[in-house]
Amino acid sequence: MTDIRSAYTDSISFFGPLEPAALAEQYGTPLYVYNESILRQRCSELKNLCKVPGFGVNYSVKANSNPALLAIVREEGLVVDAMSPGELHMDLLAGYKEEDILYISNNISAAEMRNAIDHHLVVSVDSLSQLDMYGSFNPGGSVMIRLNPGIGAGHHKKVITAGKETKFGILPEDLPAVQSLLEKHHLTLAGVNQHIGSCFMEPDGYIKACSVLLSLIDGMPESMRSHINIIDFGGGFGIPYHKYEGEARLDLAALGSGLDEILFAWKEKTGYTGRFLIEPGRYIVAECSVLLGTVEAVKNNGERRYAGTDLGFNVLQRPVMYGSFHDVEIYGKDKNASRAEMPQTISGNICESGDILAKDRLLPEMHEGDIVGILDAGAYGFSMSSSYNTRFMPAEVLITKDGEARLIRRRQTYEDLTAALVR
Ligand code: LLP
Repeated sequence: MTDIRSAYTDSISFFGPLEPAALAEQYGTPLYVYNESILRQRCSELKNLCKVPGFGVNYSVKANSNPALLAIVREEGLVVDAMSPGELHMDLLAGYKEEDILYISNNISAAEMRNAIDHHLVVSVDSLSQLDMYGSFNPGGSVMIRLNPGIGAGHHKKVITAGKETKFGILPEDLPAVQSLLEKHHLTLAGVNQHIGSCFMEPDGYIKACSVLLSLIDGMPESMRSHINIIDFGGGFGIPYHKYEGEARLDLAALGSGLDEILFAWKEKTGYTGRFLIEPGRYIVAECSVLLGTVEAVKNNGERRYAGTDLGFNVLQRPVMYGSFHDVEIYGKDKNASRAEMPQTISGNICESGDILAKDRLLPEMHEGDIVGILDAGAYGFSMSSSYNTRFMPAEVLITKDGEARLIRRRQTYEDLTAALVR
């Protein structure tokens, strides 16, 4: 390859027989490019994480809900969650059956709750108030509760979702109140779930939180726990975003054996025959996508050199929202064989000075017309994008396992921008 900087994607043959610059030319930028083989590989790694009978993977579609990708995830044998009517709609479009969709809710309206019940979904509620609502809509039904085990984890305080500092889950001290509400509405407790936070890179905290959840179940009265047949430990499995620094991967072997150890023992002790689920989003989809953009303008503002691109935070919000790091590649044949490396800041085209994708990165000198690739963009990339500054939302292309490019979402048009207006 003669791309300017593409060692990582070359090493895994991300683009297969296709050239990123040619994809950018054909479909335009910004463009999310996905690789089917990598997506399948991540699904299978997690499906094989544990040996304990009943183990399964519940893909959390908030990370990426494109139905073309969901259909692949379904073929790989993963079930899915939904936390909004829109996500449920995408799950169904991808061919998921209602029995393979868990509704993991947070502060939902009465209409949403009824929608989930009308679809016969197993619903997890995460407050006493919503449990009461569920019971009044579906007396005699089965419900799950989301517990807050008191231990949080994650790459940023905005994504830590357990412990007393968060809005999520029912605290253990409220379990007696849960029991009263179950009795009041003649509900069966079908399962429990938790989610401690997003992007952990060490297995220990997750394993510990699993033990805590199991001991919370142990502490429930027999009448409350006897029908539990889904225990969902949540997601949060991290990926190495610092590819060019050789960041280590999450040790799945250690995580899997650590989980197996406690799950086999607990099964043995309790005679449990139900399902054990994990609920990852990022791990499944982050690494199967590279976001392509174009360098439109280069300038020096004082000491700092800016490469201005079409990748505003409307396209990829993570760097602005969490200060997240994504590695950068630069594509296109290098006519100017030796490009000096220098610190450069990659910015977008949004009218805010915070619109920075990567700050002071040591990269080969960028020029107008270069194509940049933002690695690991598949999770919380498109799904958090917007049409801020009234820009079109990006297109998405899938490189199939046969090495062909397939458009799975076209770029928005003026018609899309105005479709919901009432005039
Ligand atoms: N289950 C529940 C209930 C969740 O709230 C989440 C993520 C997941 C599962 C999946 O977590 P994952 O395996 O993807 O870490 N936008 C942020 C991440 C927010 C995560 C929100 N909840 C980011 O870009 O880093």
